[in-house]
Amino acid sequence: MKIYRLALIGFGNVGQGLAHILVERGNWLADRFGVGFQIVAVSDLHKGSCYDPNGLSTSDLLATIRENDSLTAVTAPHRDWDALRTINESNSDIVVEISYTDLKTGEPALTHVHAALQAGKHVVTTNKGPTALRFPELLVLARKNKVEMGVEGTVMSGTPALRMGMEMLAGAKVTSVQGILNGTTNYILTQMENGADYDEALAEAQQKGYAEADPSGDVDGHDAAGKVVILANLLMELPLTMEDVSCEGITRLTSNDIKSASAAGERWKLIGTVKKATTGVTASVEPRRIPLSHPLASIAGATNAITYSTDLLGDVTLVGPGAGRIETGYALLEDMLAIHRNHST
Ligand code: HSE
Repeated sequence: MKIYRLALIGFGNVGQGLAHILVERGNWLADRFGVGFQIVAVSDLHKGSCYDPNGLSTSDLLATIRENDSLTAVTAPHRDWDALRTINESNSDIVVEISYTDLKTGEPALTHVHAALQAGKHVVTTNKGPTALRFPELLVLARKNKVEMGVEGTVMSGTPALRMGMEMLAGAKVTSVQGILNGTTNYILTQMENGADYDEALAEAQQKGYAEADPSGDVDGHDAAGKVVILANLLMELPLTMEDVSCEGITRLTSNDIKSASAAGERWKLIGTVKKATTGVTASVEPRRIPLSHPLASIAGATNAITYSTDLLGDVTLVGPGAGRIETGYALLEDMLAIHRNHST
């Protein structure tokens, strides 16, 4: 059986989601795919860090976090290593980069990803910062070092939106993409339609693990704009940057706006679009009031949806979870299993 040693950089919602999956599915993964994923190191800016070259107990990590929201009580031979030391000096094979997202500089995740690839380690990440800002250059570095960079969870959490576009629809040529690309805002809009107020709905989205560490990136549309940039770069060969996406979030929408749309048989949705046309490329994130008959109108809660318009197949739509601890943790597992498929022979 092939065992991959993991170093987790960050241990918030997504890292804990992955840890839960590994605890629950570890034996099945071994039986089904002949693979094991062993966490050897965790380094989190706020919760502390621990490293044991022989492996940490994943269930102990989760229990300690549940009790103390800190890793200081975990028994391990090495403690207090910062992220870069953990990446460079641990015996990890895969670096799981799940520190917080910064869509302006990509840091500190960009430095982490760079260091890991440079050190010849595979990277799996759900971090939109490095992916939206520097993916092409990171991919070159990964290829040079014969390792992989998995980014499936940067768009629509574990719903395989990127693989679907990059692998299954590549030959059909994706000419435009449109969708609901942020779970937090879709959850808030759905709850507001059901009578909740904005602050209450946002607090619930945070509590359920949908929102970013700083939720302003969700509600001001920048998280969805980052996903538009990722989709444009990875699926459509369009080297867009964040500045190319016109972006408006949901903060100007009031309960009255939502009620009056409802009364008219319509619904507000935050919609991200990127479109290639003979006249150029358009990319946007904006709240739109759409009729209930629109294909995106029925997408509720933290569910997301994406429609790929292609030359050969017409429209193909994928609907699935857009955020959440387990849902996003699962995206990391998808990328880790892809590494196993590609590197185990
Ligand atoms: N905060 C993001 C969302 C998480 O709500 O969609 C998934 O990228």
